[in-house]
Amino acid sequence: MRIDVLSIFPSYFDGLTLSLLGKAQDAGLIDLRVRDLRDWAFDRHRTVDDTPYGGGAGMVMKPEPWGLALDEVAGSAPAPDAERPTIIFPSPAGEVFTQKTARQLATREHLVFGCGRYEGIDERVFEYAADLGEVRLISLGDYVLNGGEVATMAMIEAIGRLIPGVVGNPESLVEESHEDGLLEYPSYTKPASWRERAVPEILLSGNHGAIAAWRREQQLVRTRARRPDLLADDEAPSR
Ligand code: ADE
Repeated sequence: MRIDVLSIFPSYFDGLTLSLLGKAQDAGLIDLRVRDLRDWAFDRHRTVDDTPYGGGAGMVMKPEPWGLALDEVAGSAPAPDAERPTIIFPSPAGEVFTQKTARQLATREHLVFGCGRYEGIDERVFEYAADLGEVRLISLGDYVLNGGEVATMAMIEAIGRLIPGVVGNPESLVEESHEDGLLEYPSYTKPASWRERAVPEILLSGNHGAIAAWRREQQLVRTRARRPDLLADDEAPSR
């Protein structure tokens, strides 16, 4: 998968060279290209923002650098028969990112993330981007960050680990929170007793059927307590 990121703070993304995603890049599974939006701003100060038409607080990102940057990273297909890119603008005004979104995006060949700052990006940029690919405005959740960088990093990590080969043991992807619509069951390791707290006895029983049933029950108990919104009326997990 190719991932282009446009940001005025490219060094945010240095962390993506670490751990599993770093290895995935070394192995050629993910081709991550982070670009400084100011590379497409040509005045003396490499200006990327201006005051909003109609007045209001803050600054708005100018369309010209975005247009040129998108032309370069999304305008020409990497291969003649390649699919159009999916162009994602992180925004608190977007659809909410979920594991389902991550699964969808993990199937794409080319993602472009456009990280806005200030009060946002000139609306015409989203319209223009729709000529180059599928545009999605995506929110990390109902709170406001200072810009799209942290949201983009979270999305790249969630998407990247679903690309085949990125996580060494694919079974570990199945047993996670949200994969079956429920929260994950609690996990324990040695020692069996720690600071007078014992591991639940059933886990030491060797009875795999009983352990599986107990874990399922724990998933339901936790989900009911912490995230009742995830449970359908009949408590059947829904994707
Ligand atoms: N930019 C600012 N806040 C955001 C959020 N909650 N999600 C995605 N991008 C954002």
